[in-house]
Amino acid sequence: MSRKINSVAVLGAGTMGIGIAGLAAEHDCKVLMLDVSMEAAEKALERIVSGRPPAIDTPGKEANITLGTLEDDLEKIADYDWICEAVIEDLSTKRALFDRLEPLRKDGSVVSTNTSGIPLRDITAGMPERLLKDVCVTHFFNPVKIMKLCELVPSAQTDAEVVDAFRDYLGGVMGKGVVNAKDTVNFIGNRIGCFWMLMGLHAATHARAAGLSQERIDALMSKPMGLPPTGLYGLIDLIGLDVMNFVGKNLALNLPKGDAGQGFTKFPAAEQAMFERGQLGRKSGGGFYRVSKLDDGSKKKETFDLATGTWRDAEDVSLDVGPDVMFDDTADGTFAWDIMGGTLAYAADLVPEISDDIVNIDRAMRWGFGWSKGPFEMIDSIGPARFAEKCRAKLERTPKMLEVLESAGADTFYSENGTSFLGLDSTFHKVPAE
Ligand SMILES: NC(=O)c1ccc[n+]([C@@H]2O[C@H](COP(=O)([O-])OP(=O)(O)OC[C@H]3O[C@@H](n4cnc5c(N)ncnc54)[C@H](O)[C@@H]3O)[C@@H](O)[C@H]2O)c1
Repeated sequence: MSRKINSVAVLGAGTMGIGIAGLAAEHDCKVLMLDVSMEAAEKALERIVSGRPPAIDTPGKEANITLGTLEDDLEKIADYDWICEAVIEDLSTKRALFDRLEPLRKDGSVVSTNTSGIPLRDITAGMPERLLKDVCVTHFFNPVKIMKLCELVPSAQTDAEVVDAFRDYLGGVMGKGVVNAKDTVNFIGNRIGCFWMLMGLHAATHARAAGLSQERIDALMSKPMGLPPTGLYGLIDLIGLDVMNFVGKNLALNLPKGDAGQGFTKFPAAEQAMFERGQLGRKSGGGFYRVSKLDDGSKKKETFDLATGTWRDAEDVSLDVGPDVMFDDTADGTFAWDIMGGTLAYAADLVPEISDDIVNIDRAMRWGFGWSKGPFEMIDSIGPARFAEKCRAKLERTPKMLEVLESAGADTFYSENGTSFLGLDSTFHKVPAE
């Protein structure tokens, strides 16, 4: 049976439900959007039209959206091709909704969950075969309209044509960059990105003890590495220590034994104290930084100095260095190696566990985290041989994909101007179209 998506029922109209419903409506898809009450659904529609930014760009496209409640209108999903669950990140809530929706949806429809990190096999355990064949994770990033990445994760039983239908719609209609991920904790982007953040907080604690300011740490972890200007602390302020705490707990539960991330599922002491007193980030009025408006209309940025536990004026630090700094024998170099070298080595150990190839990993980090180069593209630019040598010196091992590169006698992970990539089988393959 070939599947085609022309309509979507979005279950849960929070941040992600709004983004998905808005994007689908923008592309003239018929949308049913259900939430816990009619009032909540109406508020969500208001955010779609006039949120900052709105989820719809073209005035009038909101007419594609019909509202309802999960309690009274769930049977209406029978008219929709794609049932997209986007309720809170709670296993029992998602499972209860899946139990209710499965008998109501039509044959030939496809189902997805927008979970950030709950394994799909846990959400669908013991559910009917029809569902197991028709289900995927569609992991969008926030804000849905802006972030290019959508990770697509089939279950062990998902039919190939269901995966194709999602890929066609997400990529072909919604314009997302679809990455093939596996049913492993946090999929690709968040597995590597959250390792970078949580391990990074520990590396930054050592760096601060060695004399680096928080602003210098963020300056190093932005432009010099080809990363977004938020840096490390700024990105965590954006996400919130409450979300990072939840992520850490999920990782502690679901990371494989022996995974390097197991050592970094808890905050260092200073960040734990911030979390406990509710100093979570932008959502609580300030975390590592806070910005206030002065009487003359200008803005003042302050830093919460982790060493003294007090607020002070933020320093302006700009650095004229590149990723090579991680090979310098300085405090900057030690920190850059610890966080960035450590994260690149982590990524190089995760093929094929989280992805069958390096291309999907590089795309996930570019499209989901705004890195200008993915991990393997970054290793190529700093020199894989030099990187492998430093891994042996510092980590006392060679990360898996670097072993593959060495056994293949290759100099880089990509060749022929980036059109072919090194596979696990030690041969080069054509890079698939985006
Ligand atoms: N926000 C993000 O950055 C982000 C990114 C990717 C994936 N996700 C995932 O998307 C899903 C939704 O996240 P969100 O950020 O939109 O959350 P949200 O809190 O903004 O929205 C959750 C929605 O679920 C509804 N809800 C609450 N309790 C419910 C219940 N008991 N039964 C049914 N519905 C209930 C709420 O009314 C709300 O509309 C989660 O699984 C989350 O992990 C979030």
